[in-house]
Order: sequence, then structure tokens, then C-alpha cells
Amino acid sequence: MIRDGTVFDDDHLPTSIVGRNSHMNEVTDALAPIQDGFRAENCFLFGPSGVGKTTVARAAVRELRQEVLDVPHAYVNCWQDYTRNAVLEQIARDLVGAALPRTASTGRLVDLITDNLHGPGVVILDEVDQLRETKVLYDLHEIRGLSWIGIANREVDLFADLDDRITSRISVGYRVHFDSYGEDTIAEILDRRAREGLGPGAVNEDVVSQIARLSEGDARRAIAALRVGARMASREGLSAIPSRLVEDAVTDAKCEVRQKTISKLNTHQHALYEVLAEEDGLIQKELYARYEEVHDDPVTLRYLRENHLPKLEHYNLVDIERHRGTKRYHLVDVDHPEQHPEHV
Ligand SMILES: Nc1ncnc2c1ncn2[C@@H]1O[C@H](COP(=O)(O)OP(=O)(O)OP(=O)(O)O)[C@@H](O)[C@H]1O
Ligand SMILES: [Mg+2]
Repeated sequence: MIRDGTVFDDDHLPTSIVGRNSHMNEVTDALAPIQDGFRAENCFLFGPSGVGKTTVARAAVRELRQEVLDVPHAYVNCWQDYTRNAVLEQIARDLVGAALPRTASTGRLVDLITDNLHGPGVVILDEVDQLRETKVLYDLHEIRGLSWIGIANREVDLFADLDDRITSRISVGYRVHFDSYGEDTIAEILDRRAREGLGPGAVNEDVVSQIARLSEGDARRAIAALRVGARMASREGLSAIPSRLVEDAVTDAKCEVRQKTISKLNTHQHALYEVLAEEDGLIQKELYARYEEVHDDPVTLRYLRENHLPKLEHYNLVDIERHRGTKRYHLVDVDHPEQHPEHV
């Protein structure tokens, strides 16, 4: 039944972006000066998980490249590349194709980019709230012709620990807020994915709207459910997904997305996750004390509160229970993968 599995990959960039016209317009407006040879406006995309932020940023750059060939562009995932040098190395490689010396100082990397960037270019800084060395934003700001699209869950997380000198310069720019998708938009996204990736007649309207309803406005979860449903149905020798499989498919998809997110956690977030897996419902102080015991290079409580805990919350790994001014942290319940044959 699955004709082209790559259509369901998280980094698959669909040909058409559904229901995000105004968001696309804002980002392409910000990038428009590049068409006349000028530096673009920086822009920031904010919103919960699975609502198309990365997709819109990439699609806007794709659109720009259809207008202006060879616009230098780079993509950095700051969750993986969180140091100043890692970000600059990635940009030097992507943006200007620079051959990197084995070890290059920050200054050398900035020079490499500056010297090789001819004309305006754009960098997508995905998960930019995960940067540990935010000075790099200042480095990028100083590079002539360079603009960025920064993506984060919430604006407060991003600017929380920037020093004022940096904030005043780099916080200028477009801000585009994304909210969760409605069921109709998710259904439309699913419909197109099914046409691209599954055999004819693999889903009917009922199944699509059922998945859309259960996916809580999260396109990633919905697309994963479609793939899981198709796999389950194939295993039964069916060429269409029957309604009775949808609930299990959505539950398993949720698990799958969760496992992938867990694998992306950095050591601090992972330690927090493990601590809560052992003892649920801790208050912040207790959680921090346990984290400090298990991590050999712990961050401060403030940093944990402003950076790592919100990330776990945004990715639906941790829930916060608020009671009379006290916050208790819980792991979000999901069915265990062992209960479903999908994950064996
Ligand atoms: N408007 C859309 N049209 C088509 N596909 C979409 C749309 N929005 C999201 N998707 C698909 O949903 C998945 C999740 O989208 P995306 O990665 O852009 O979410 P995100 O907002 O960046 O989430 P996160 O904060 O978790 O990184 C991707 O596979 C993407 O292709
Ligand atoms: Mg994203």
C-alpha cells in the first residue's frame, strides 16, 4: 500500500503548503529584498510542535530560489549544533561551500563566511531557542548581507537569556505566529500525502477525518498516523486503511513521534527525563537536585527552568501540574510501545 515511504519522512518538503498562505506571505515578504540584491529582514517563527514552522521556512527559501537562482542559503538545527562554532561551521559549509580547516577559531569562521558571501544570503536557524552560545547571533548580525529565519516555540524562551546588547540588535524583525491546525487543514494535508505516498483508494474521507480529529492539531502526528495505519493495513493484506485501525494507528504514531523526540534530547533534557521516569511528580527544586546528582556538568536552575524544561513541555514529553503556586512535573502518559506490534 505504501508506494513512496519518503513522502512520510519528517524532512519531506511537500510541493504545496496547505493552509499557511498568510504565514508564507509574511516570510516571503521578509525575504523579498534579496530579489533586489539587498539584505533581507530577519524573521522569527513561533508556535507549538508540528504546526509547519520548519516547513514554511524551507518552502519560503525554496520559493526565493525559484526567483533568484543560487541565493546562498543554509539550514542549521540549533538543537544539534548548539555551540557558536558548530553553527558557524554549518553555515560556512552550506552557505558558501567553504572548505573548513580541521580546527578553525570563531573569528576565522566568521571571516570565511564574510569573504565568501557575495550578495545577500539567508540562514534558517531552526530550534534557535536551543542555542547555548547565543553570541553567535551577534556574529551573524555582523556579517554583511546575511539574514536569518529563526524558529522557536515561544518568544520568551528565545530572548530569555540573551544579553541586552544582543537583544536590542537582533530582536528586530518580522514575527510570525503559528497556531495549531484545525481538523479541516489536517485532513487536507493528509489527503495530499495519501495521494503522493499511498496507493489509490488507500484512505476514504472518514478515515482521514478520524485521524485529523485525533491528532490534536499536530500535522506531524497525523502524517505519522497515516503511515502507521497503512503499515498495519498492509500487514493484514488490505489495500485500504479500515476505520477500526485508526485509533491504534494514532496511538502508535504518538509513541513513534515521542521516541524520535527523545532521541533528539540533549544530555540535560535526557537526564531530566530519566529522573522523572524514576520518580514522577517532583517539584522543581527536587527535580533540580536529582538532575544535579546525575549530570556531571549541570546547568543552573534558572537555565534549566527557562530552556530545558520548556522544551520538554513543548514536545509533549512533560506535563506541568499547577497547584496553589507549586508546579509538579510529570512525564506525559503514553501507551507503552510493547503493547502494539508496530514497535516490535
Ligand atoms: N501546511 C502544511 N502542508 C503540508 N504539510 C505540512 C504542513 N505543515 C506541516 N506539514 C508537515 O507536518 C510535519 C511537521 O511539520 P514541521 O516540521 O514544519 O513542524 P514544526 O512546526 O517545525 O514542528 P516542531 O516545532 O516540532 O519542529 C512535516 O512532515 C511537514 O511536512
Ligand atoms: Mg520544526
